[in-house]
Amino acid sequence: MATQTLILLFLITFLSSQSLHVSTAQSIKAAYWFPESGFPVSSINATLFTHLFCAFADLNATTNRVSIASSKAAAFSSFTSTVRQKNPSVITLLSIGGGSSNSSTFSSMASQPSSRKTFIDSSITIARANNFSGLDIDWEFPQTATDMRNLGILISEWRNATYAEAQRSGKIALLLACAVSATPTLNSPLYPVPSMKTSMDFVNIMAYDFYAPTWYLRTSAHAALKDPSGGVSGSSGIDAWINAGLPANKMVFGLPYYGYAWKLSNQANHGLGAAATGPATGTGIDIDGSIAFNQIKAFNQRTGAATVYNGSLVVDYCYSGTTWIGYDDVSSVAAKVSYAKQKGLRGYFAWSVGGDDNWVLSRRASTTWG
Ligand SMILES: *[C@@H]1O[C@H](CO)[C@@H](O)[C@H](O)[C@H]1NC(C)=O
Ligand SMILES: *[C@@H]1O[C@H](CO)[C@@H](O)[C@H](O)[C@H]1NC(C)=O
Ligand SMILES: *[C@@H]1O[C@H](CO)[C@@H](O)[C@H](O)[C@H]1NC(C)=O
Ligand SMILES: *[C@@H]1O[C@H](CO)[C@@H](O)[C@H](O)[C@H]1NC(C)=O
Ligand SMILES: *[C@@H]1O[C@H](CO)[C@@H](O)[C@H](O)[C@H]1NC(C)=O
Ligand SMILES: *[C@@H]1O[C@H](CO)[C@@H](O)[C@H](O)[C@H]1NC(C)=O
Repeated sequence: MATQTLILLFLITFLSSQSLHVSTAQSIKAAYWFPESGFPVSSINATLFTHLFCAFADLNATTNRVSIASSKAAAFSSFTSTVRQKNPSVITLLSIGGGSSNSSTFSSMASQPSSRKTFIDSSITIARANNFSGLDIDWEFPQTATDMRNLGILISEWRNATYAEAQRSGKIALLLACAVSATPTLNSPLYPVPSMKTSMDFVNIMAYDFYAPTWYLRTSAHAALKDPSGGVSGSSGIDAWINAGLPANKMVFGLPYYGYAWKLSNQANHGLGAAATGPATGTGIDIDGSIAFNQIKAFNQRTGAATVYNGSLVVDYCYSGTTWIGYDDVSSVAAKVSYAKQKGLRGYFAWSVGGDDNWVLSRRASTTWG
């Protein structure tokens, strides 16, 4: 009798912990799309993803309202139904802000209750009107301790507002996410980790852009997973977030579908850390040296560049003439996704989907995660 009771108790405990686990921690295989990439939404292979981010809606500095530029309105409003043609269960989120938005505008909005409310209410309205299941704030970056405190208040109020809206509308509450720097204190005071933990469904860790040829004149792994010499890396960032109190299963690990091209000072000196003069120029290379993965593959084909995988940092690089490019190929992606899974993170995301080459990165990421 006692044994049977114990077994029953064990089963109840086991089963409820299992179902809790499943319901609170759906794995995330995600990517961002943005219209300036020139990649059509209808070409996204949505079967490879659980979540897709549509980027970016803007924060209007005068009104504090979230808006979608008229040039993007059609693509954004049909985004969800378009990607769901290939994967009916893919979840879509509208991203607000981004790397080229004005940080001061976010700072100002977050500083007052009334402007926070305008932001929050307009974001919910625009998400529903455009058929998104969630919202993502990409404030790059809060700069002061006051910014961080206000961000914490903003996201707590946002969470409450989405729950209240769900009650009123009878719909499932909007998901809330934010994109943050690789470490909780990279170029900034500490993020409001307790609010993030309570209020965010998940947090996108931008584990890239550690170095760039516009400001660092040595060839580098801009998104190294590890750095044996102690510099910033994806894994040191994740450890810092965990130490700051953000649970691993709230974190989604960022994978760059792009690299950076340096111009070598001396083409005979082409290892990691070689001297460079700045960004390289050439087909597919932007002014800041960034280059999409599919353009890197084309460069390698065209030039017969040498390619190297360095597993101690987890980076791929290639070089031809004086052009040297550090990037993530399938080997780096597989190593990072294995790491994310083993570390208990929620999943991974890519910036951005249009950079892939015949889905080799997205497919490897998905099969590696399982
Ligand atoms: C999309 O991805 C799936 C899974 O890897 C693959 O079977 C399919 O061929 C891909 N579709 C396209 C158009 O590449
Ligand atoms: C911000 O909103 C104001 C008032 O609606 C509008 O006149 C202005 O064009 C908007 N700014 C941008 C950059 O869209
Ligand atoms: C939202 O997307 C779903 C799934 O594709 C579609 O059935 C529905 O018609 C869309 N609603 C609007 C308002 O576009
Ligand atoms: C950013 O916004 C602030 C305040 O709204 C403004 O003073 C500043 O000129 C803006 N910066 C840029 C680069 O637009
Ligand atoms: C959010 O709602 C909870 C529960 O109703 C409440 O305790 C909390 O103060 C609210 N937070 C904010 C920032 O409004
Ligand atoms: C990887 O790069 C580091 C740093 O340059 C170097 O010390 C190491 O020898 C390289 N490892 C391999 C396997 O090439």
